Amino acid sequence: MQSVLTEDFEILSQSNLAFEQFRDKKILITGATGLIGSLLVKTFLYCNHVHQLNMKVYALVRNAEKANTIFEGCVGISDLTYVIADLEKDELYQKIQIEGNCDFIIHAAAVTTSKLMVSQPVDNIKTAVNGTDKMLKFAVDKKCSSFVYISSMEIYGQPFTEGKTAEQDLGYIDIASVRSCYPEGKRMCECLCTAYASQYGLNVKSARLAQTFGPGILPTENRVFAQFARSAMNGQDIVLHTMGTSEGNYVYTRDAVKAIIMLLTEGMSGQAYNIANEDSHMTIRQMAELVAKEIADNQIKVVIDIPEDNRSLGYAPGVKMWLDASKMKSLGWNPEVDLVESYRRMMKWMER
Ligand SMILES: NC(=O)c1ccc[n+]([C@@H]2O[C@H](COP(=O)([O-])OP(=O)(O)OC[C@H]3O[C@@H](n4cnc5c(N)ncnc54)[C@H](O)[C@@H]3O)[C@@H](O)[C@H]2O)c1
Repeated sequence: MQSVLTEDFEILSQSNLAFEQFRDKKILITGATGLIGSLLVKTFLYCNHVHQLNMKVYALVRNAEKANTIFEGCVGISDLTYVIADLEKDELYQKIQIEGNCDFIIHAAAVTTSKLMVSQPVDNIKTAVNGTDKMLKFAVDKKCSSFVYISSMEIYGQPFTEGKTAEQDLGYIDIASVRSCYPEGKRMCECLCTAYASQYGLNVKSARLAQTFGPGILPTENRVFAQFARSAMNGQDIVLHTMGTSEGNYVYTRDAVKAIIMLLTEGMSGQAYNIANEDSHMTIRQMAELVAKEIADNQIKVVIDIPEDNRSLGYAPGVKMWLDASKMKSLGWNPEVDLVESYRRMMKWMER
């Protein structure tokens, strides 16, 4: 039987993505041992194999051993090369050995662990801003024809406007809060992208991802979607450490990967795009209840247990926001997988 992840790669390989634009090209993907980066690497390897595109895929990772466990046995692995580098500390030119030009770059590396955002905020900002600057400069030098920076819906903060939040509707972020290193870092990185597009003519777009999950998550994944799924699988109540009133926006991994690849080939330079399934919008509490009811067949409950000081957990501040995905849809993208199906598919993967 095909794994649920291979099924996703097969669907992507048969989709309307502009594969011919990748023929004989080189692509570099950072954050390649992470959820999004690893899925992008695997998708390109798979599609390269299926369509015989003669691509070279470069995966920027800090830890080759970890990368080996993630990519071992992947379809098309002979076209994969690791670039071992730490974007916060290393000079890229000593590390990235890519002959000639580098045609495409997807920059997905970032510190995403909530606890690290509050315990090591300086490192978080340096990885974001210095790392993105290094990648953009590298892209200019290597005559990159298209660059996608993976941003986040968190750059909105709390939108000031009513109704759905489109790309121009930036809201409030408290820069006196330590955890703001993450969204403010993302804002500065997007600003750098715009600056490189303007000053150097780099073709660069920002992908503002909603919370993205599905098959391919690592066993160490501890974001809220993985915690809810584990509770359902273990028959344990879902424990919320906040009131769960924050509104979440979600997108399935395969849909997100497709949108990011579309941005490489179709996105407008210097622009940002929301990537969200508009129908997968609900509060954290509603999502917990959906999992308890639809996924765990009402065998578990949702329990609220708020610790006295939950700041050290680094939770994102509660927001009310419903992402508008019209701009991404105008490129011909349409999300296909809803929230319940996302959980079902992710849990099949977790059960392997
Ligand atoms: N998954 C989501 O729900 C989501 C939502 C919005 C935005 N994003 C963004 O998408 C991107 C990928 O996220 P993800 O979910 O795959 O996260 P992840 O934590 O799984 O992966 C992040 C990757 O970045 C790498 N990294 C961190 N610091 C680095 C450094 N100094 N040098 C080199 N590599 C470094 C990590 O090793 C890891 O491989 C990130 O920019 C994240 O902010 C993700």
